[in-house]
Amino acid sequence: MNKLNIVILAAGKGTRMHSNLPKVLHVIGAKPILAHVIDCAKALNPNKIIVVYGFGGETVKEAFVGENITWVNQAKQLGTGHAVQQAMPYLEDDANTLILLGDVPLVDVIACQKLVALANNTLAILSFNKADPTGYGRIVRGVMGNVTAIVEHKDATEAQRDIVEVNTGIMAMPNQYLIKWLSALTNNNAQSEYYLTDIVALAVKDNVNVVAEVTADEWSVTGINSKADLAQIERVHQSRIAQKLLQQGVTLKDPARIEIRGDLACGRDVELDVNCVFEGVVILGDNVKIAANCVIKNAVVAAGTHIAPFTHIDDTQIGENSRIGPFARLRPGTTLAADTHIGNFVELKNAQVDVGSKINHLSYVGDSTVGKNVNIGAGTITCNYDGANKFRTVIEDNAFIGSDSQLVAPVTIGRGATIAAGSTITKDAPADQLTFCRAKEQKSISGWKRPVKIKK
Ligand code: UD1
Ligand code: CA
Repeated sequence: MNKLNIVILAAGKGTRMHSNLPKVLHVIGAKPILAHVIDCAKALNPNKIIVVYGFGGETVKEAFVGENITWVNQAKQLGTGHAVQQAMPYLEDDANTLILLGDVPLVDVIACQKLVALANNTLAILSFNKADPTGYGRIVRGVMGNVTAIVEHKDATEAQRDIVEVNTGIMAMPNQYLIKWLSALTNNNAQSEYYLTDIVALAVKDNVNVVAEVTADEWSVTGINSKADLAQIERVHQSRIAQKLLQQGVTLKDPARIEIRGDLACGRDVELDVNCVFEGVVILGDNVKIAANCVIKNAVVAAGTHIAPFTHIDDTQIGENSRIGPFARLRPGTTLAADTHIGNFVELKNAQVDVGSKINHLSYVGDSTVGKNVNIGAGTITCNYDGANKFRTVIEDNAFIGSDSQLVAPVTIGRGATIAAGSTITKDAPADQLTFCRAKEQKSISGWKRPVKIKK
């Protein structure tokens, strides 16, 4: 294999996005368009990745700090040929170059590998057949089917405009030729641009073999120019992920109503109901069931756990066979051991809950350590914040917290302790005892009448 350089063209302005954000930083699957292209480039193991940027300059670069990328500024966008000319000083003489477009996020690694394999002593172009080829460069073939030129739409004759085989913009060739051809480009054309596509005619003149590989996967070569394109490609991207999950054996109640904005890994016999959104890295163990309308971000859910509808999970780990939701909110830093039950309108933040514990209704438990087999009654609140500092609440194994209790941190509820309903606990509660702190007496007033509405 020859050395490989990859040049990604990303200097275009993206006027039709009507946005202050550079076009290539808009996201597909929560990842910038350009990041998808860079990921494809990396998968090809190149010696060099060169990105030609322009509009939005530094913002684009800043989005990729730490990446091993050569950034080249194309201050004025004078055409695709001019863009590649800017990369010329960085091209290695003994390498082949693959040209990719920064606004084509679904670019296919396998098709690129094919082109790269063809590129020794050959100019290899990726083409496709477009029902309406308007605007695209047409692949002009000779009588033997050999490629003789690419003619841009605006420069094409009526006869050439009938050609439906078009240029994707993705191509590969040896640098020794590319460097020579780039130096020979002119802008004598309808758009007064330096067309990269003119290298095809130059190759033919030099008797260099030119091949066009036709791809059937139009989405993998579709560029994004508008918000409508962005929305459409997002749907394609999501449906491809959904199909992959189905192939792996995941049950999707509706593959059109699942959203993966990151990486979702699933064990066997996982079931996902409609309208769930997965963000970041989410790992679901065997037999996990996620009901409708859940948002789950950066989480591990162990085998056999069921998440009921409308549950929101962020940066949380959940042990096996747990029951979460509906309407639960698990916030960052929370870890739940196996067999835990978290019910409706329960918010947990930075809480570590041990095996078999239950917090079933209307509670806030934050900055807390909860032991094994603890039962936290409805409406319990850990008061972890005094307005300036946060403190921890510790609830030891087998404790029982009565409903509507407030535990004012820092405080420890001992092993097996019981807190009476409606208590405000400000001091440590001893193990195995009943502790209560509420109004002393319960009064009843006989003959008391309910107020009645005053007539006006
Ligand atoms: C180009 C091809 C055309 C092909 C089409 C596929 C040329 C002359 N034409 O059309 O044959 O069918 O792509 O979409 O190559 N860019 C720069 N600097 C520039 C100009 C463009 O970086 O000065 C980048 C854009 O950001 C974009 C890519 O190159 O990523 C393609 O540019 P675009 O203007 O979309 O394509 P066309 O020139 O219309
Ligand atoms: Ca153009």
